Amino acid sequence: MAIRNVRVVEDDILRKECREVKEITERVNILLDDMLETMYATNGVGLAGPQVGILKRLCVIDVDDGNVYKMINPIIIERNGECVDIEGCLSIPNVNEYVIRPESVVARYFDENGDEIEIEAYDLLARCICHELDHLDGVLFTDRAKEADKVKVEELLEKQKQLEEEYCDEDFEDDLEIIEE
Ligand code: CO
Repeated sequence: MAIRNVRVVEDDILRKECREVKEITERVNILLDDMLETMYATNGVGLAGPQVGILKRLCVIDVDDGNVYKMINPIIIERNGECVDIEGCLSIPNVNEYVIRPESVVARYFDENGDEIEIEAYDLLARCICHELDHLDGVLFTDRAKEADKVKVEELLEKQKQLEEEYCDEDFEDDLEIIEE
């Protein structure tokens, strides 16, 4: 395995559309392993082909949910809900912005063995899949942040804050019961 050079925002390659992977060869597998190593070395949670200068529909993801995803020709077949969170990107150093993404997605891809996989993803994994798949179409998270309706971002943040508080209150009540016992 080898650490590859991560392309940054001035690089035109990040704006190009990627081509489908036609055959899962040894080269593709080496590339996926290199992408993972590069991602871990740079403390990322996802990395897409163009970020290492490869215009192929490939990405790797590890959001610390116990799985390492190597995705070949991934597509999103379903998007549900909306939520907002801060995003960053290894190709856009030192920039973090709010981006509205679906709460959950259903994605389909081929793994490194050529098996077709379908997953339902929530939260950070769903966000990461959307972010990486955008890279395959030359779209960066800053584009999404720019086109996001600021009022909507505020509304979603407020809604999420309320939900979090309600959830914390419930937790607190549970704790009280335990103490009373
Ligand atoms: Co990125």
